[in-house]
Amino acid sequence: LPLVIGLDLGGTQIRTAVLRGSQLLSRVGLLTGENPSPDRIIPRMYESVYQALQEAHITLDEVAGIGIGAPGPLNNRTGVVYAPPNLPGWNDVPLRTMFLEEFNIPVFVENDANAAALGEYMFGAGRGSKEIAYITISTGIGGGIIADGNIVEGISGTAIELGHMTIDWHGVRCNCGNIGCWESISSGTAIARRAHELIALGKGEGLLNFALTHQAQEAGADTPSDRARAHLGRVHVNARMVAQAAEAGVPEAQAILNVAAEGLGVGLINVIHIFNPERIVLGGGVVQIGELLLAPARRLIQERTMKVPKEAAEIVLAELGTDAGLVGAGALVYYHCS
Ligand code: BGC
Ligand code: NA
Ligand code: ZN
Repeated sequence: LPLVIGLDLGGTQIRTAVLRGSQLLSRVGLLTGENPSPDRIIPRMYESVYQALQEAHITLDEVAGIGIGAPGPLNNRTGVVYAPPNLPGWNDVPLRTMFLEEFNIPVFVENDANAAALGEYMFGAGRGSKEIAYITISTGIGGGIIADGNIVEGISGTAIELGHMTIDWHGVRCNCGNIGCWESISSGTAIARRAHELIALGKGEGLLNFALTHQAQEAGADTPSDRARAHLGRVHVNARMVAQAAEAGVPEAQAILNVAAEGLGVGLINVIHIFNPERIVLGGGVVQIGELLLAPARRLIQERTMKVPKEAAEIVLAELGTDAGLVGAGALVYYHCS
């Protein structure tokens, strides 16, 4: 396999690597930061490519192309990124054209989850399957379907925006503007949002204590400081912390995770009914929470899914872990050039 560059643009992180297949020759990571506007981020993406090349001791003309996975909706043929709910400031950005101008080698732009699906299909947990669904649960929720070796893309290239399936039409508003999207229920952002809401309502004592102790320990103290201030909304809780609190037996943390987990189950039931996949590969940082999230989801699937597609659908974790998107981005070059 030729050398390629993979770049995974996420709501939280930008990962760039020189790859041969799933093997990383170098890796560069940077935080997307509070302000991910294109004029701030795109030059840093270029920079990360140069840095990855340098660290791998190779030059641009030794790589076959650059593959980019980016949050959608985007058009994978033109490489125009429309208006990703989790990348504020992006509007019709001609990402592919810009990279072509900068690097002058083949460039492919694909939805991050579609790219990760390809990565897992070629090099990970989807190997040898005919039909896989890949779901990433992170800042948002994304999905990708590989059917008979092909990325399912839709007429405008935006197909498989699974995170914006409506799950609860009386629910909360999603960053995309719609109500009750899957990602507004089961993403890492949703878990953290619910934790903050509970704390603000004064119903999250245990969680607040846990978070404050955690914060104090990170700051090198052994007891929580100024709790009153934290009550005013200063405490920062993320999905991982909710999971840790749940594991430590904090009931409201368990309840929060349970809502996310049931939402996960409902979404997966829909995925199974729609696509009849052979394998469902789960990736993204939030699935690392593990059984607290997966067990209730599996239980719902067991209870509510039609027999045949249910029996066929094996649910597994991404083998490439949090690198699925990165490896998949690089794999876009193989996909398009062979
Ligand atoms: C976007 C998807 C993306 C997912 C994960 C969603 O909000 O709409 O295109 O795959 O987040 O980044
Ligand atoms: Na997708
Ligand atoms: Zn949405």
